[in-house]
Amino acid sequence: MAKTLQNFSSLCTIPLTLLLLLTLVGASEHRFSRPLSRAKLGLKKEKLSHLRFYFHDIVSGHSPTAVRVAEAPTTKNSSTAFGAVVMMDDPLTAGPELGTKLVGKAQGIYASASQTELGLLMVLNFAFVEGKYNGSNLSVLGRNAVFSAVREMPIVGGSGLFRFARGYARARTHKVDLNTGDAVVEYNVYVLHY
Ligand SMILES: *[C@@H]1O[C@H](CO)[C@@H](O)[C@H](O)[C@H]1NC(C)=O
Ligand SMILES: *[C@@H]1O[C@H](CO)[C@@H](O)[C@H](O)[C@H]1NC(C)=O
Ligand SMILES: *[C@@H]1O[C@H](CO)[C@@H](O)[C@H](O)[C@H]1NC(C)=O
Repeated sequence: MAKTLQNFSSLCTIPLTLLLLLTLVGASEHRFSRPLSRAKLGLKKEKLSHLRFYFHDIVSGHSPTAVRVAEAPTTKNSSTAFGAVVMMDDPLTAGPELGTKLVGKAQGIYASASQTELGLLMVLNFAFVEGKYNGSNLSVLGRNAVFSAVREMPIVGGSGLFRFARGYARARTHKVDLNTGDAVVEYNVYVLHY
């Protein structure tokens, strides 16, 4: 009986060793993670860039660039429009007038997230179309208390020339039309990237 068991186990060791080898080979074929040097990704010195542009939030007229897509049953009774969700595709221009050079679009969502003041949750991408940044994007996730003189929002990442981006955006209202609700906001973006 003992002998039979021993024979059985020695028979088993061969496939087990094979299995182990196969597993090891498999592991290197499907390596999940590895350390990588910055040079291998072509990353050179990290640099700091300052971008300045004007954001046009057009909510009125026949072709608004920001549209309300959802609200809560109580939103209309809220002094801060709490629960309203707006989708935007707002033009970004080099100067404060809409006719100046288009440098990109602000695409994303702003939503009223405060019951005590007009405090917006901003979730958006700046999709640039100008110069060397054409085709590169920056992602913003922040809080925008629109009645404060300057609002600061984190830049949480980017793509294209803005890979590995981090930084912040400062927003300052340039002009608001109180009849239509249309607004022009100056943005100064400070971003570290490669
Ligand atoms: C909103 O306010 C109006 C007037 O005070 C009231 O009749 C209505 O029930 C309120 N609606 C909600 C959803 O609270
Ligand atoms: C930006 O890139 C797109 C696609 O490559 C191109 O069609 C467009 O002309 C470029 N715009 C500018 C201002 O260079
Ligand atoms: C940036 O966004 C634009 C517009 O949404 C998109 O076409 C482009 O592929 C993005 N660029 C990168 C590098 O992902």
